[in-house]
Amino acid sequence: MKKDRVCAIVLAAGKGSRMGTDTPKQYLEVMGKPILYYSLKAFEDCDAVDTMILVTGAEELDYCRSEIIDRYGFSKIQSVVAGGSERYFSVFEGLKAAEKTGCRWVMIHDGARPFVDNEIIEHNLETARRCKTAVTGMPVKDTIRICEEDGRSISTPDRRMVWQVQTPQTFLCKDILDAYQTMISRGHTDGITDDAMVAERFGQIRTVMTEGSYRNIKITSPEDLQWMRMHLREK
Ligand code: CTP
Ligand code: MG
Repeated sequence: MKKDRVCAIVLAAGKGSRMGTDTPKQYLEVMGKPILYYSLKAFEDCDAVDTMILVTGAEELDYCRSEIIDRYGFSKIQSVVAGGSERYFSVFEGLKAAEKTGCRWVMIHDGARPFVDNEIIEHNLETARRCKTAVTGMPVKDTIRICEEDGRSISTPDRRMVWQVQTPQTFLCKDILDAYQTMISRGHTDGITDDAMVAERFGQIRTVMTEGSYRNIKITSPEDLQWMRMHLREK
């Protein structure tokens, strides 16, 4: 077996509350296919990726097996596992399943981020192999201001040092699983919104940003669906 194996964990266990639809957003169809299809397809088609784990809601396991994996013929998915009530619980379930594949690297990706592509994945992996971690993102275009809840300004960071964070985020499987295990056993999950935060706080891993694309957006609210349709048509 190849020593440097890469496993992609694709997250699809969210409820999509900000989208406001009955069906969780990752299953909404855009140009005839569910949003999740596009995210999975990028990793399926990338030669650098060996296996995939799909994390979904406990009630959606069968639907994903028949309507997504079988229907579109995804061949790299080793298992479909049930996620949890928060993203970090879902990631933890995905990591435990990924470890069983014997991979060295895990690439954690939001299933609701369908514009990930071969170039982003390969560029991310190159950085990970060089720096031990790689967090996809882009330098912000707008000025960012840190404020109190009532809007009063606290500070304005130097824009040249501020990135917006995307996925995939890549780590050594063992390192990130250890970090997640520590976080979950201590119950210190307050304010955790991505995997790099877990790596830094509980794994003492200094993460490294690597460029993704301004197109690699996360489909979150209804206007993002319009945007997605427009850009798929262009493709
Ligand atoms: N996710 C997950 N398990 C959760 C929450 C989120 O697997 N308990 C996944 C989502 O399916 C999505 C990704 O993590 O692909 C990013 O999360 P987000 O955009 O916040 O999706 P939701 O949590 O579904 O949306 P919302 O926060 O609006 O409810
Ligand atoms: Mg969420």
